[in-house]
Amino acid sequence: MVEKIYKIKGGKKLEGEIELAGAKNVATKVIIASLLSEEKSILENIPEIGDVEITLKMCESLGVKYKWLDKNVLEIEPSLKDYRVPLEYSGKNRVPILFFGPLLHRFKKAEIPIVGGCQIGQRPVDFHINGYQLLGAKIIYQDNVYIASCDKLKGITIELQYPSVGATENLLLGAVLAEGTTVIRNAAIEPEIEDLVLFLQSMGAIIYQDVNRTWIVEGRKKLKGTTFRIMNDRIEAVSFASLAIANQGNIFIKGIDPRGISTFLNYVRKIGADFELFKNGIRFYNSFPLKGIALETDVHPGFMTDWQPPFSIVLTQAEGVSIIHETVYENRFGYVSALNEMGAKIYLFTNCLGSKPCRFCYHDFPHSAIIVGPTTLKGKELEVPDLRAGFSYLIASLIAEGESTILGIEKIERGYENIKERLQNIGAEIKEEVKT
Ligand code: EPU
Repeated sequence: MVEKIYKIKGGKKLEGEIELAGAKNVATKVIIASLLSEEKSILENIPEIGDVEITLKMCESLGVKYKWLDKNVLEIEPSLKDYRVPLEYSGKNRVPILFFGPLLHRFKKAEIPIVGGCQIGQRPVDFHINGYQLLGAKIIYQDNVYIASCDKLKGITIELQYPSVGATENLLLGAVLAEGTTVIRNAAIEPEIEDLVLFLQSMGAIIYQDVNRTWIVEGRKKLKGTTFRIMNDRIEAVSFASLAIANQGNIFIKGIDPRGISTFLNYVRKIGADFELFKNGIRFYNSFPLKGIALETDVHPGFMTDWQPPFSIVLTQAEGVSIIHETVYENRFGYVSALNEMGAKIYLFTNCLGSKPCRFCYHDFPHSAIIVGPTTLKGKELEVPDLRAGFSYLIASLIAEGESTILGIEKIERGYENIKERLQNIGAEIKEEVKT
């Protein structure tokens, strides 16, 4: 088998400018949401990444037509012909489950294979299924497929057990064309969801955000096609910022909206690094020494779980002890043992090492980490376990002594557009090779 790998020489200071791409976790959602109309939509700022490619293939398999009108500009013709998402897409990403809304509204039935995504926890879909059942769908699970049907979806109040991003988005897609009003309580309110809501509004949906994590949706009979530019990727923003700080570099990240990362900016200051805000971006740099800190990941507006792996590499360079309590996914430290082999000192605990009540208490999940720094990292061969861990390996390799080889780079390319070229542009010594 032929495999693409990255070879990285560490230690070089990175300087220059990186421009953010469109948000992965909005792009795939607006592609599916555009299928709620029978008219064409034009989606702008769509990153050309693996996850978008898989989503488009899934849409195509259902009869949808699409074309790239320009770089990052996608036209979707929502000519749905089938209500069955093929089984081959089971396990590829988190997207198939989001087809419930468009397929149930168009065909009154949907068949959806089990969903995948990064292996960072069990990632069940019970909130999605329960929510759609409350909206009026009958759903059974058979041979790895959810088989759903309905006469029509009807608005109702749904209280999520946890403010799940995917379940909130999925139920919004069901609610916008349901009969009557749907209220989603204890919902997720991440900026990516606000962007999806803006997109749905531009299609004609009526959606209010109320206090206490509540979305109120007044169902419409029809939605229209639209033209919409999605937000830039705030996980990319923090990934590149973490790289700049860990590397003692100086990187201007163009296109960051600071409102989406203000919690992260506090931590940048708390560890002793710095940033400078400009109209069109933020420059990150640091003047060592960095200081250890304690942080807990959380739903928005907390410290985002997807920022945790890249930022943990920063903390390996900070003096003293740092503590991370991961409260969103039970298994998001799978990347740590390889870092320890590079020379990091990261210790995992099943205890909640934080002040917030966490769902993973007493469940034997290694969801807290103590990082002792600073440590010198040494290059090594690394196999990427998941997307954000993959980016943390890129950072680790770029600050390590010697050369690293990264395997499984398609997992990184699933979420970061042209990553090798963009890193090369700020001085990274990274090249792609083929391993046979
Ligand atoms: N959960 C359940 N039941 C459900 C749904 C979720 O128990 O039915 C639990 C999950 O197991 C997890 C927690 O709720 O412990 C949060 O999961 P959520 O549903 O919010 O995550 P998601 O929608 O599957 C999206 C992003 C993730 C990001 C999270 C949190 C996409 C495609 N993925 O996942 O992004 O970490 O929200 O912000 O939007 C990434 O981009 O690398 C990534 C993993």
